[in-house]
Amino acid sequence: MFPPHSASLPLLILLAHTFTRASASSQYCSLKPPRSGSSSSSPARGVTDVSTDVIASAWYPGWLAADFPPSSISWSKYNAMTFSFATTTPDVSTIALDDISEQTLPQFVSAAQENGVSALLSIGGWTGSMYYSTAVATAENRSAFVNAVLDLVTKYNLDGIDFDWEYPGKTGLSCNVVNPDDSANFLQFLQELRNQPAGKNLILTAAVGIEPFVGSSGQPMNDVSQFATVLDRIAIMNYDVWGSWSATVGPNAPLDDSCAPSSDQAGSAVSAVAAWTAANFPANQESLLRIYNINILSEITLGLAAYGHSFRVTPTAALQRGNSTAIAPYPNFDASAQPAGSADTPGDTSSDPCGDSNGVSGIFTFAGLISSGFLNLNGSAATGIDYVFDSCSQTPFVYNQTSQVMVSYDDAASFAAKGKFINAEGLLGFAVWDVTGDQNDILLDSLHEAMGIQAVCDS
Ligand SMILES: *[C@@H]1O[C@H](CO)[C@@H](O)[C@H](O)[C@H]1NC(C)=O
Ligand SMILES: *[C@@H]1O[C@H](CO)[C@@H](O)[C@H](O)[C@H]1NC(C)=O
Ligand SMILES: *[C@@H]1O[C@H](CO)[C@@H](O)[C@H](O)[C@H]1NC(C)=O
Ligand SMILES: *[C@@H]1O[C@H](CO)[C@@H](O)[C@H](O)[C@H]1NC(C)=O
Repeated sequence: MFPPHSASLPLLILLAHTFTRASASSQYCSLKPPRSGSSSSSPARGVTDVSTDVIASAWYPGWLAADFPPSSISWSKYNAMTFSFATTTPDVSTIALDDISEQTLPQFVSAAQENGVSALLSIGGWTGSMYYSTAVATAENRSAFVNAVLDLVTKYNLDGIDFDWEYPGKTGLSCNVVNPDDSANFLQFLQELRNQPAGKNLILTAAVGIEPFVGSSGQPMNDVSQFATVLDRIAIMNYDVWGSWSATVGPNAPLDDSCAPSSDQAGSAVSAVAAWTAANFPANQESLLRIYNINILSEITLGLAAYGHSFRVTPTAALQRGNSTAIAPYPNFDASAQPAGSADTPGDTSSDPCGDSNGVSGIFTFAGLISSGFLNLNGSAATGIDYVFDSCSQTPFVYNQTSQVMVSYDDAASFAAKGKFINAEGLLGFAVWDVTGDQNDILLDSLHEAMGIQAVCDS
């Protein structure tokens, strides 16, 4: 089984509140969705401010800084940006940053703050979560880990921390430490961090899977509302739902799956928001009002994929019978011939940090689909490439019959559909993995437009 967020790219989170953006001319802007009627009650601690600002965020992969320095980010279209990743280590007092991240993080933080964007640092990711479990396992370790986090905040002048633990109580990378009490210990750790004077006003976010955190039984918890009282928000990583580890080709980031054949319902934004909401994580619903008598807006942001997964598929499997251009749904693929993606070095056989040989990830960024000829510069399918837009998942597939490469990805229409869903559900906003994957903001601009996001400025 090949994990989500494959080897080179893990994932994660985001967020910020009441974001005002200060430009050099001391004009202040915030990003507003077209929502009516903000609540006027005062925010509870640890709960997102009841402003109507939308959270427009993305993750910045620090290891790509040479090709994509912080100055390349379209800062005015975001109000939170999360630097990825600092990693857990065997020593609970040490949270590690590689050399390029250490060099880039200070520039990233100043660029963000100069643009009125909150700067967060994400800890963990697919390959960096190995020692989360031990870091929160005992009172002594939690206290040391709290101090290590706060030291990073001070050292880098961070506005917040994103916890991208993949995953509490559940196997991610094969050598991660996993303990049945992970979720309970994680909650205690977050409470202890929040209770520190220096933790009170920090933005605390978590990148989470499409099902709620698992409890000691290994099953998703029925009630995760306590997490909502200490986190400002979560980002649901609604991607890597299908990929090279799956039985057939399927959508990387489905908006919906209830309209798919029942055997192909592997989860979606619709099912994930429903599952977190049913477990009392606030999504613009009344459960916390009932339980704690606090009036809060949603603390859920939807994770969006500016990338896709590739599969090797024969033309016989890829195309509908009797039609030389129509892509068949959920075709079989050859897992032993994983095509290299735009983020890979072809022929790469390197192994992950657990020593498992993963080879190439097969991930194509949206921009990589353009540079490798699948898509035109404007994001439409190139001549000679088969294309289908799956109306259930609201995501497209492209196929090159000669190379036998099929890619499931998100295009501008997918981002627009997800933006409308975010508004319709009253979610807090979005988090894109990752900020380098878009091409000239084709996806981001489509999302802003669909959500009706406007910069409201006063000078
Ligand atoms: C506490 O952290 C240390 C590393 O700093 C680790 O060796 C130890 O196993 C941890 N305790 C538990 C119970 O996981
Ligand atoms: C093949 O499928 C495409 C797309 O669904 C359709 O427009 C076209 O008419 C089909 N061609 C044939 C020969 O059935
Ligand atoms: C996108 O680009 C292609 C190739 O240049 C062109 O044929 C197509 O009309 C363009 N589509 C839009 C919507 O502009
Ligand atoms: C399809 O793949 C072949 C073989 O790799 C390549 O030569 C061709 O340019 C690709 N077609 C398109 C339209 O990109």
